[in-house]
Amino acid sequence: MSTSKDKTSDFRAYQSQTTPHPLGLEISHASGSYIYDVQGRDYLDFVAGVSAVSLGHSHPEVVAAVKQQADKYMHVMVYGEFIQSPALDLCKALAGALPYPLQTTYLVNSGTEAMEGAIKLARRVTGRSELISARNAYHGNTIGSLSLTDFEARKAPFRPLLPDIRHIEFNNTQSLETISSKTAAVILETIQGGAGFILPEADYLQQVRRRCDETGALLVLDEIQPGFGRTGTLFAFEQFNCIPDILVMGKGMASGLPIGAFTASRTHMDTLQDPKLGHITTFGGNPVIAAAALATLKVLQKTHLIPDTLKKESLIRSYLVHPAISEIRGRGLMLALIMESAAIADYLVLEAQKEGLLLFWLLFEPRAVRISPPLTLSEAEIKQGCTLILRLLQRYENGGVN
Ligand SMILES: Cc1ncc(COP(=O)(O)O)c(C=O)c1O
Repeated sequence: MSTSKDKTSDFRAYQSQTTPHPLGLEISHASGSYIYDVQGRDYLDFVAGVSAVSLGHSHPEVVAAVKQQADKYMHVMVYGEFIQSPALDLCKALAGALPYPLQTTYLVNSGTEAMEGAIKLARRVTGRSELISARNAYHGNTIGSLSLTDFEARKAPFRPLLPDIRHIEFNNTQSLETISSKTAAVILETIQGGAGFILPEADYLQQVRRRCDETGALLVLDEIQPGFGRTGTLFAFEQFNCIPDILVMGKGMASGLPIGAFTASRTHMDTLQDPKLGHITTFGGNPVIAAAALATLKVLQKTHLIPDTLKKESLIRSYLVHPAISEIRGRGLMLALIMESAAIADYLVLEAQKEGLLLFWLLFEPRAVRISPPLTLSEAEIKQGCTLILRLLQRYENGGVN
């Protein structure tokens, strides 16, 4: 039997890593709001696999749906040829939950893949090539979505990326004038994630919508992170009086299994049939994963988990008052603590893990600590996690002494 030490060196030797110091917890199992390591320690999970495990770890209804479907069939054909109920029922349920004209969904395997599909669809529908995204945007890590992302240090080594991409200032209505009849799509995160959980101001998204309508550009909203109930509505755009032409989703959609999707009107989506097979994927719409997504959606729709995210936000905000926390950004259970310095953020994430609480960073804002727990997190668990955060911040102020 290999020991944990062997596992750590095997982890370094055989599995690719992208940071020099991965957190490296060796996982035994996970349930609800807790993850357990092989030493038998439990960790209260305030990260949820980075906003992915919406219903908590191994939610019984999601597990039952997966098992039931795995017993029937797991993969029978590439995307879109056979009628497979889990995928069809999921697309139909999404159409029922979304406003017109967001009625037709293309299922893929991840957020970035959904974004690639959205880029292709926008170019195909408009016959234009220019794409406009926002400063400090994050849309994924494949070449197309990386091109939309705005973090030069992480892009430079991979150039050349997609041509014809421009970035506008998020929440700046003046820069909307640069959207023109050359623009295929304006692509925005409804709530900016990597940048530090930044909400759109007042009627910003409505203004973007208006300018897109004037110029014939499509509006694509990336809801890969806020989607599936994290910010008080099924999708965050519902709170801003603005319906996109293409909605992009992923992460929390199947409560921890890999999936993504982009949704648009039937007319727009049909353009992917010309050329024939205009977008294809082997595993997109996989029945086991679609069953998990459908079960997730049903639980979200029949419970109070979605509106309760706002009550849980208030509770977290009421606990987490401390001079080291300059600001708490975001909405619902998509919250970022903006610390006084990046050093405090690092201390908090690393020390919290040692004490049994999982926190994590954001991509581009070094002072940020994310709180994006399962939506099922209880009030008692909120209190437990926040009490520990306050204790650690006090310890930091005392120079590391309790
Ligand atoms: C807003 C946003 N877009 C796109 C992505 C990429 O999704 P994935 O990691 O599933 O490819 C993410 C993932 O963090 C995201 O938060």
